[in-house]
Amino acid sequence: MVKIVIENLAQKEVCSKEDRASVLKIFQSNYIDWMHACGGKGRCTTCKMIVLEGADHLSALSQAEESYRKKGELSYGERLACQTFITGACVVRVPDENKLPHLTYTS
Ligand code: FES
Repeated sequence: MVKIVIENLAQKEVCSKEDRASVLKIFQSNYIDWMHACGGKGRCTTCKMIVLEGADHLSALSQAEESYRKKGELSYGERLACQTFITGACVVRVPDENKLPHLTYTS
């Protein structure tokens, strides 16, 4: 069982029994709107999330994430939701630049 809390989306809690799904897929399965301009192919950074807790429950950086990190487009503590698989609990935030205009975010 995995649990993801989205801190600045009113502490929205998402649970899943899927053990082979990306964070983005888990969000989508739970009807959470999350930016994903390239469709989850690792070709943009719009699905970026800031990991506040539980980084040890996340998969290692994918090749795409390594590449973005080397280019300075993915900071330490940031992950791409479409490239990250989760095995436990974590707390994330939506970065300001990746907030969707039709959603109301909390601080
Ligand atoms: S949706 Fe484009 S990199 Fe994740």
